[in-house]
Amino acid sequence: MWKFRQIETMNYNINFNFGNSDTMYLTHSLHPYPAKFPPQLPHTILKQFAQKNATVLDPFCGSGTTLVEARLFGCNAIGVDVNGLSSLLSKVKATPLSERELTQIKLFLNIIACEDLQWKMKRPTIEVKKIEGLEHWFQMNVAEELTHILNLITKLDNENVKDFLKIVLSSIIVRVSNQDSDTRFAAKNKNVPDNFTFGLFLTRANEYLTRIAEYSKKINADGYLKLLNADSRNLSMLNNESVDIIITSPPYANTYDYYLYHKFRKRWLDLDVQYAQYNEIGSRREYSSLKKPAAQWTVDLKKCFSEMYRLIKKDGLAFIVIGDSVIKKEHIKIDKVIKDFIPEIGFEICNIISSDLSEHSRIFNPTFAQKNKKEHLIILKK
Ligand SMILES: C[S@@+](CC[C@H](N)C(=O)[O-])C[C@H]1O[C@@H](n2cnc3c(N)ncnc32)[C@H](O)[C@@H]1O
Repeated sequence: MWKFRQIETMNYNINFNFGNSDTMYLTHSLHPYPAKFPPQLPHTILKQFAQKNATVLDPFCGSGTTLVEARLFGCNAIGVDVNGLSSLLSKVKATPLSERELTQIKLFLNIIACEDLQWKMKRPTIEVKKIEGLEHWFQMNVAEELTHILNLITKLDNENVKDFLKIVLSSIIVRVSNQDSDTRFAAKNKNVPDNFTFGLFLTRANEYLTRIAEYSKKINADGYLKLLNADSRNLSMLNNESVDIIITSPPYANTYDYYLYHKFRKRWLDLDVQYAQYNEIGSRREYSSLKKPAAQWTVDLKKCFSEMYRLIKKDGLAFIVIGDSVIKKEHIKIDKVIKDFIPEIGFEICNIISSDLSEHSRIFNPTFAQKNKKEHLIILKK
């Protein structure tokens, strides 16, 4: 539940008490992704501050929450993330499908249902996809079924249909692998029975199909969606002053390794693992394993904020949700850090709305919800 204590200002007060609102409507429930913000957040901001057909940028788009809401609102949406899985997931969640594409998906699911029946009668011997760590992280029966589904997806010719089905497959990989959970990278034996992977794929695909069909009806043809698998410290591929509004949430330093928990998904889908590993900012790897100094976090954030400033039009607003962190036992009050460097960048601070991290659902790691750590919505104007 999101409850923000509001700092009163003349124009930039936003009511962020979303209560127990449904955060999983339409395509928002597709595929697990850690540290998503509630869709009500971009929705409220867009309603209050954006024009229809504005161009919205999320330079840390994660699972695409901002992009889905931007498209629903009739805006153009640009999403950037260093993680290739994020770009694929955001594309699938925010791209409406035609009736023809929806029918192609249904036909594909019929094929998988037939394969499931045939494999129940007699399991064929197939050559499983070679991925690093396969034997440690996957049972052989699971690897066979995943490989078979993937081979059939690869034969399709429509990219939107293929990407949708890849995301369905990706969504079940952690469940059927030996990886403990989405946020715990440890191996455990789950004794997955034969044909369970086919069954789970079909259940998930049918659920996602209903959601994407509902979403597709709500999106009109005007406007565009652009996704970039890139590092937001350097967005030179985007033009100066090409964006009307930014709604985003960068990582909270030393809290998470986004690249790590999606590692097997990316290996199965042939997505690059190393690019995100080496360019993800604020990761636990950087500050807990490689023991980089806290100053690096400020350096990286400054680069990202400079790019946001360059890209946004004059008088445009940037809404940034970011949390405090602890690096080498030093408590980083991130609102203060940003307040200190923001004049150098050029932005004016319109408001900072803060809340205790222990109070709402943005928390994904309970150990992170320590006392005195706050999460902030920082509103900036060019
Ligand atoms: C808090 S999550 C964003 C979640 C998103 N708001 C949502 O609702 O799904 C932060 C994202 O920043 C991405 N990220 C980390 N370093 C990055 C970088 N250098 N450039 C672009 N994205 C980066 C991570 O991959 C992760 O997806």
